[in-house]
Amino acid sequence: MKRLTTLDLMEMKRRNEKITMVTAYDYPTAELVDEAGVEFILVGDSLGMVVLGYEDTLAVTLDDMIHHGKAVTRGTKKAFVVIDMPFLTYEVNSEDALRNAGRIIQETGAQGVKLEGGQEILQAVKSITGAGIPVVGHLGLTPQSAGQLGGFKVQGKDPKDARKILEDSLALEEAGAFSLVLECVPWQLAKAITERLSIPVIGIGAGKYCDGQVLVYHDVMGLYTGKRPKFAKRYSDARKEMFKGITDYITEVREISFPEEKHSFTMDEEVLAKVLEEL
Ligand code: KIV
Repeated sequence: MKRLTTLDLMEMKRRNEKITMVTAYDYPTAELVDEAGVEFILVGDSLGMVVLGYEDTLAVTLDDMIHHGKAVTRGTKKAFVVIDMPFLTYEVNSEDALRNAGRIIQETGAQGVKLEGGQEILQAVKSITGAGIPVVGHLGLTPQSAGQLGGFKVQGKDPKDARKILEDSLALEEAGAFSLVLECVPWQLAKAITERLSIPVIGIGAGKYCDGQVLVYHDVMGLYTGKRPKFAKRYSDARKEMFKGITDYITEVREISFPEEKHSFTMDEEVLAKVLEEL
């Protein structure tokens, strides 16, 4: 099975075909979403909250992303895998950015990296794409700078912010990004940006006119117990089903209805009798 490339994703935009992206952080999830047919898998630094139990994404390290990224790429055959560059691995200078992006690609086998920010990270984007590594941009609500943005809220509602997001989008495309994630912006702004860019725009809380959509796997499946934003539609109540599985197991062990004979191994009684006799 042939793995998707940046060209396949650009071609989908050209043909007006919607692109699906979902996060994954481990082997079984990657295998499942790849088999289901998503085009894009994001090893997001949302890992920090939904898998590692942190309050935000800031504590996630490059080694965390590489560790989980390796598991995800091992679980995929077809999807294009992108790994988030975590906080402070690309902002300090473009040499560090390239070295860190290179480690991600070399050690995980992923197809691309994602960076948050606009004008301030253009040098990093140019340096990474200059080395031949595909880059996805991320604008709007950028969780790594949520503190500066005044929290997890809609971005680009006033003219100044809307203009900055639009200009940053164009600048990222110009700098070589092959795709852009737009998070939590009004749908009208997302539509205008999607129409102006020739690279695929993947929305999350950015309305239906983007070229594709991305959601966090744990939100889709109903596995995350923390705060869920209004755009994070739940498609399954997997946690309920999983909870039932584990409580049924506890009950059966306690009442000795598990294991049954079919789960056990047997031996010749005489052999055992002889062993015990010889003790
Ligand atoms: O880390 C992440 O999961 C993300 C998505 C929300 C786009 O960046």
